[in-house]
Amino acid sequence: MAKKKTTYVCTECGVTHSAWSGRCFSCGAWDTIQEEVVDVSSSPNLPQGQSVATPLSEVSTESESRILSGMAELDRVLGGGIVKGGVMLIGGSPGIGKSTLLLQICKTIGQGRKILYVSGEESARQIKLRADRLQVISDSLLLLCETNVESILENIRSEKPDVVIIDSIQTMSLTDITSSPGSVTQVRECTSVFTRMAKLADIPLFIVGHVNKDGAIAGPKVIEHIVDCVLYFEGERHSSYRLLRCAKNRYGATDEIGMFEMTDQGLLEVENPSLLLLSGRPTNVSGICVACTIEGSRPVLAEVQGLVSPSTFGNPRRMSTGFDNYRLALLLAVLEKRAGYYFSNLDAYVNVIGGLTLTEPAADLPIALALITGLKDVPVSDGIAAFGEVGLTGEIRSVSNANARIAEAARLGFTKVIIPHHNLQGLASHDDIEVVGVKTIQEAFEAIS
Ligand code: TYD
Ligand code: MG
Repeated sequence: MAKKKTTYVCTECGVTHSAWSGRCFSCGAWDTIQEEVVDVSSSPNLPQGQSVATPLSEVSTESESRILSGMAELDRVLGGGIVKGGVMLIGGSPGIGKSTLLLQICKTIGQGRKILYVSGEESARQIKLRADRLQVISDSLLLLCETNVESILENIRSEKPDVVIIDSIQTMSLTDITSSPGSVTQVRECTSVFTRMAKLADIPLFIVGHVNKDGAIAGPKVIEHIVDCVLYFEGERHSSYRLLRCAKNRYGATDEIGMFEMTDQGLLEVENPSLLLLSGRPTNVSGICVACTIEGSRPVLAEVQGLVSPSTFGNPRRMSTGFDNYRLALLLAVLEKRAGYYFSNLDAYVNVIGGLTLTEPAADLPIALALITGLKDVPVSDGIAAFGEVGLTGEIRSVSNANARIAEAARLGFTKVIIPHHNLQGLASHDDIEVVGVKTIQEAFEAIS
């Protein structure tokens, strides 16, 4: 008789607990622990392969050749295209556009390749309607509406597709596992089985995983360690712009982002993100500054805003969106102690426009300038951009990729860029933009006012 064991698993991080509790001790999430009954006597019927140790020099890398998805934004985030045998997880909230993105790439990758699109959520008719709208017309695209993993594997064995898409992993189930689809055990085991299949058959596999806040189903975090590449599709509900962010990539860099716009013809690539992020920017007002940042391998200009207002409580509030709160507190302390700008009885808010998150130190100077111009109420000319790291003594420190940042600002018509003084050394000549090197925050403020 099958031996059963009850465990309590966190749907957010996947950690197993011996008893139920209101809060996961590992990740700190509330109300995410679910009871699961696991069968400990039998293991799922996994596809078996012959394992033979091979010298590294004899391992063939021919199959590493990449398939281009036809969407440059996606290919760049993946590190240069889809790797054969690679397992790519696309996570995101329901309705963000994961299925749309995958159906759209079928248009290009389906040319000369057989794709198996497995959907556990939509009927073949619904997918066909969407494919018609997205103008994905392909005879090599096979639809399979199925949630049973064994049956899907059977189809893969018989059809021998070149690419497999699983939409979504939370609907899939293995018959040997008693817990319900979407539970941590099911999601993990199904992913392991699909991953093993992708490696053995050397076919790329896309897995869709819903990010779910209420903890009823296991999130994509619980399978991040199994897959090769983790992409998160992000965006605000009321905005049509979407960011594709890479959280893990065994075949490329993880700091790349891709930008898309959701339209009635599906997702469109945003080739010029700086132009989009700066559109509709207020001109000649105080409390804003344009930051020259690097996202992955490309320069992106982003507008940062700082708001300073009298505090009504004893403890002034410091809040930021798209910028680290601790870094903001540190910057305010430096501005006060080293540069003589007093914020101690004022609330300070920072906002990065367009849903971007600025993590690199080069964003320090533009954020400091946005706060100071907000404090002094000095309007900033719309032709000015800035970048640089602010040190604890109030000095402006050099950052990498100065030439690429300045060139992007010049390309977008900026007339003046404020950079760290040390970056002036070895700088290429930029004729179409005035480059001002500054050593301190005061110098930077003088350069813009
Ligand atoms: P979908 O890809 O189904 O989301 P997910 O698979 O991540 O749950 O995206 C659905 C949303 O996208 C829905 O709100 C409608 C919108 N959408 C468009 O705006 N235009 C389109 O052409 C398509 C196909 C969807
Ligand atoms: Mg979907």
